[in-house]
Amino acid sequence: MSRLEIRNLWKEYGQQIVLENISLTIAPRAFVALVGPSGCGKTTFLRLLLGQEVPTRGEILLDGQPLPREPGPDRGVVYQRYSVFPHMTVLGNVMAGPEMKTARFLGRRFGAARRAIAEEARAMLAEVGLAGAEDKYPAQLSGGMQQRLALAQALMMKPRVLLLDEPFGALDPGIRSDIHRLMQRLWNETPMTVVMVTHDLKEAFTLATRIIAFERRRDRPEERDRYGASVGSDIAVWPPRSAGGPTIWTSDYLPDRDDPILWGPTTGTTRPQGA
Ligand SMILES: Nc1ncnc2c1ncn2[C@@H]1O[C@H](COP(=O)(O)OP(=O)(O)OP(=O)(O)O)[C@@H](O)[C@H]1O
Ligand SMILES: [Mg+2]
Repeated sequence: MSRLEIRNLWKEYGQQIVLENISLTIAPRAFVALVGPSGCGKTTFLRLLLGQEVPTRGEILLDGQPLPREPGPDRGVVYQRYSVFPHMTVLGNVMAGPEMKTARFLGRRFGAARRAIAEEARAMLAEVGLAGAEDKYPAQLSGGMQQRLALAQALMMKPRVLLLDEPFGALDPGIRSDIHRLMQRLWNETPMTVVMVTHDLKEAFTLATRIIAFERRRDRPEERDRYGASVGSDIAVWPPRSAGGPTIWTSDYLPDRDDPILWGPTTGTTRPQGA
């Protein structure tokens, strides 16, 4: 159930080493925030998890199986911008993925199957607060609405892993905290593991169960080709959160959920000493 294992992963582009020997185990339903300086390979790492890039060395396993070498419905992605199709309506955007999948299986889309998808898409739009906007086009939506649409689009495929590349970075602070609450609820209710790249540590601490920082230990210009980024710190967020609780707010503070092992091996915790 959506456990990710990254073993001795290297990624090189030509002469440049981007990622150097990354090994991580990410527990099912964890919410990992990935931070690190610009250019250290965070997007590259997400693209590897998505299957858009292949490792130079090492392997990635999803629930014990090697990751297929192409993006598939088990992994969804939301980018900072432009994740949605501009020429399709809001409803069309959310229906597009499942329709393509159905068309592949059935050869053509049967009316009943299409109606079922439309119904599910409307429910998903309501879930992310976009009821009433079904017939609009993305350009007619605010930035926050577009990102909620992108989330709805990704979640329609019921991914086991949701990858987020600074999805909320361009939003105004008020809209951001609204979408953070939405994101917490979706993570809590949906059986998926989330890996989110962010530049914002506050966002990382608000949402994540675990914060992983990529770091280039050797970053002098002449060293850049020979050394890539690796895991600089790996921190379990305190108090621990777990998905699937009755509400995210109570699960945030359950006193008996204090075992960081739940989230896979980490090297630190934000738990205060003595707590
Ligand atoms: N397709 C590619 N071909 C060659 N080099 C690439 C490619 N994709 C990324 N790189 C290089 O890999 C390095 C890491 O890029 P990446 O986009 O993963 O960084 P990042 O951590 O996401 O940065 P940012 O925080 O600015 O988004 C950069 O030096 C970049 O130039
Ligand atoms: Mg990036």
